Amino acid sequence: MKKIIASNFKTNHTRKSTKEFIDEVNNYLLESDIDNDVLIFPASSSFDTFETKENLTIGAQNAYHAKNGSYTGELGTIHLDEFGIKTILIGHSERRHILGESQKDVALKYNYYKALGYKIVYCFGEPLEVKQAGLTETLGYIWEQFDGIDLNYDNLILAYEPVWAIGTGVSATTEDIATIHKKIKKKIDKPLLYGGSVKVCTLQDILEVPNVDGVLVGTASWIVDDFKKMIYIANKMDANSKQIKCNIEGEK
Ligand code: 13P
Repeated sequence: MKKIIASNFKTNHTRKSTKEFIDEVNNYLLESDIDNDVLIFPASSSFDTFETKENLTIGAQNAYHAKNGSYTGELGTIHLDEFGIKTILIGHSERRHILGESQKDVALKYNYYKALGYKIVYCFGEPLEVKQAGLTETLGYIWEQFDGIDLNYDNLILAYEPVWAIGTGVSATTEDIATIHKKIKKKIDKPLLYGGSVKVCTLQDILEVPNVDGVLVGTASWIVDDFKKMIYIANKMDANSKQIKCNIEGEK
């Protein structure tokens, strides 16, 4: 399976810079003929009818579990439909921990978007104190984040994002990632991404970890040249051509 490369813009990039970013990535995919799946989750104020190559998908970082209605500050599916958006991130730790979404809220949203056939990138991961308590506690915490979630859903991508690695610059080690991904894959046969301080220069090592099907990147993906490098590295690795790491200048 080809590696999946996803960028979560979070609360970054304006409408103008988002369009420039997406156009540049799209042109890169067209020129290079790279066919890895690439996903970009911009801020909702930047949604537009982007003309993108088949393997470049624009998704929503969040939306409410309603078509429309009185939910001040939320988006409904009419707002996603307007731009043909059929992909959504659900369960991101920033929504769970900063915006206070409970597992019940997350499951409600999941089931709503599942019923509509959306591609769902479902995020889960443990905070530092849980990791420090040990592997059993970590796995127990993760399984609770699957409460109410149909893991047999066809259009599901999972993303393991340990909370302590998100936005901290400290990625999980490849050993940590290998351990968790193996446990998850044993029970759930779905594409499984890793997210949490992935950088251009750590990408290859992470993608080489067994059971890692791709990455969901925040900070390091917001510079378009770096995001393009990540796509390039993922593609080269699939072709199994050589060790590239981050020495990719002049390779294009
Ligand atoms: P960072 O890459 O900034 O750690 O963010 C990861 C993430 O939360 C992606 O959804």
